[in-house]
Amino acid sequence: MLRDRRKVDNGSSVRVGPEIQDEDDDDCFARTQFTNGDIFRMIGGILILGLLAGRLITGSVTWNIWRRSISQVDLVKPSAYWVGQDLPRAFSVNQLQQFDGSNLNLPILLAIRGQVFDVSRKSGLYGPRGPYHRLVGADCSKSFSHPTWSMQAFREPCSNDLTGLSDEGLQRVVKWVDFFQNRYPHIGYVTDSKPLLA
Ligand code: HEM
Repeated sequence: MLRDRRKVDNGSSVRVGPEIQDEDDDDCFARTQFTNGDIFRMIGGILILGLLAGRLITGSVTWNIWRRSISQVDLVKPSAYWVGQDLPRAFSVNQLQQFDGSNLNLPILLAIRGQVFDVSRKSGLYGPRGPYHRLVGADCSKSFSHPTWSMQAFREPCSNDLTGLSDEGLQRVVKWVDFFQNRYPHIGYVTDSKPLLA
């Protein structure tokens, strides 16, 4: 390392310029170095955030990874709650409202195009504190006509009225019906909903 020393009046030498700069650089470098402890803390933090996000979004800290292996037949099989009841069951709009997850003794039901599905399996998504709670206990078919990147579905009020929708919008609703049919037990239908589209 080059040292730039200059004589001053009392005869001693002082270090100037480059050396002082070097020491500052060393200090900066030392301050930005991560220790193993820092790295462990960061990984731990990311892990905890991931678990919390999983709990919030899917209702399970493991993001339901284990549940994904459940067979299709099990997915659509009505839970013990429905055993002994005549299925498919008819629900009035008022009856359906009771199944919005606020009552922990009742399953959570979602209706789309008049068809009612039991979505209790994902109470983290559909329960009172879930991001999709507004879609349950009612038939909000229209909300499903919006593209998933749009927040419009969450701005407009819940409605089962699909009149005036574009073909694209209707197709989205049909795809969602398909989705619920393949993933959740079909429990019945809404009696006083608007007639289904063909
Ligand atoms: C900014 C837009 C959106 C984002 C970032 C988003 C994100 C997500 C994520 C991450 C999941 C997966 C949850 C899981 O199963 O672990 C999910 C599920 C879901 N999304 Fe969205 N979404 C958006 C918009 C929409 C819209 C517009 C709808 C239509 C109403 C919608 C309906 C749903 C439904 C019903 C589920 C649950 C599916 C199930 O039962 O497994 N999303 N969304």
